[in-house]
Amino acid sequence: MNPAVVDSILTSRSRYLDELTRFIAIPSVSALPEHAADTRACAGWLADHMTAVGLQNVRVIDTPGHPVVYGDWLNAPGAPTVLFYGHYDVQPVDPLDQWVSPPFEATVRDNELFARGATDDKGQLFVHLKALEAHLSKTGTLPINARVILEGEEEIGSPNLDQFIRDHKAELACDVVVVSDSPMFEKGVPSICYGLRGLSYFQIDLRGSTTDLHSGSFGGAVANPAFVLAQMLAQMKDRGGHVKIPGFYDDVRELTEREREEFKRLPFNEKQYRKNLGAPRLHGETGYSTLERTWARPTFEVNGLLSGFTGEGSKTVIPATAMAKISMRLVPDQDPDKIAGLFEAYVKKVAPKSVDLKVTRMHGGKPWMTGLDNPYVQAAARAIELGFNRAPVYTREGGSIPIVATFQTELNAPTVLFGLGTPDENAHAPNEKLDLDHFYGGILASAYLYEEIAKTRG
Ligand code: BES
Ligand code: ZN
Repeated sequence: MNPAVVDSILTSRSRYLDELTRFIAIPSVSALPEHAADTRACAGWLADHMTAVGLQNVRVIDTPGHPVVYGDWLNAPGAPTVLFYGHYDVQPVDPLDQWVSPPFEATVRDNELFARGATDDKGQLFVHLKALEAHLSKTGTLPINARVILEGEEEIGSPNLDQFIRDHKAELACDVVVVSDSPMFEKGVPSICYGLRGLSYFQIDLRGSTTDLHSGSFGGAVANPAFVLAQMLAQMKDRGGHVKIPGFYDDVRELTEREREEFKRLPFNEKQYRKNLGAPRLHGETGYSTLERTWARPTFEVNGLLSGFTGEGSKTVIPATAMAKISMRLVPDQDPDKIAGLFEAYVKKVAPKSVDLKVTRMHGGKPWMTGLDNPYVQAAARAIELGFNRAPVYTREGGSIPIVATFQTELNAPTVLFGLGTPDENAHAPNEKLDLDHFYGGILASAYLYEEIAKTRG
């Protein structure tokens, strides 16, 4: 690579950090209506920044929800086109009292940057903007054609992005998609992730009476929705952690022996993992290791429960309602719509007539997996090795980036997951953080990536 590009990346670290700090300071919480204006302001800030970086045709494009920011640089005829995807929206910050420093004031402690969005995904997407900038400012050109698409609704299930991609297929045409929105296997162990889980999300509402009831006067006469909900949820999984929804496992692609062997070879310390989580004991589907359970097996989880009196002291009451948020993580080749249908049928079957049941589908996303022999994966592996002085390991992940499957089907483009986070990054939780060695190393690796991709023919 041109030494001036490398030199500029190595000498601009404090500026990169200052700029990321300003990006993070805009509280683009997509889930909360009170932050809608901030989310839009963040899109505007990004667009200005992308223009300053040297991207062209930069636009903030409206959707029925939060806007998409687009920019490109397409002046390398004959070279491959890379689509960089990321999301500028972030998760809510509650519980706020558990943050050591304010969530939107990026703070460095022990070479880690703490803030909401530090890793998910502002810090990670910023890496690519800085690498593009380094090339463009020092050489006036890029070895590839680049398109950048940054969305503001990833954390709420990307409700408008599939349609956006279908509507802008020509503008998004590319040979490969590069996404940095996932963790490395371990701090300092660069990784390429070749599989993500999908998702199917629901809310269940039960009502047993028009209002809360005196539990002495009426206890025994009516069903208690909190108790019914617990009984219904208890029927979703058996003691071995297998999901009991009929048909749930029909389309699950089993792990291959080779994959199981490779997972076993990864430097995974189960004892340390348990300790870090503060879990008294690990628990999951029988017959599978922890990595297999989280990366390659589907799950059924309760994300939230609400019912009755939860304040201090006691109150003798039968709650009128009970509510649960539940979600299922899916693996190839489960289809979120099909799974949603199976769940709805089963939940109706296990609900007694003594309560009114409402089942609401929230969002879903397809699981994804790619082959490791893909030449772009190999190009990314070389770039990562150049940027981090260490060859990447190959992982799958339990999280979801539903749009990745859409890139494959709609744009016919493979995705490379160039993850720069860490497993202890506290994404979606208080004290979210990004390792600064990953941030700076990622910028260098991203800068190498363009040349490695330019050498590749898909
Ligand atoms: N960065 C994550 C995705 C992720 C997490 C990938 C962990 C690999 C490992 C992303 O921002 C996210 O949180 N996605 C949501 C998607 C959902 C709202 C459809 C998720 O996984 O819960
Ligand atoms: Zn997230």
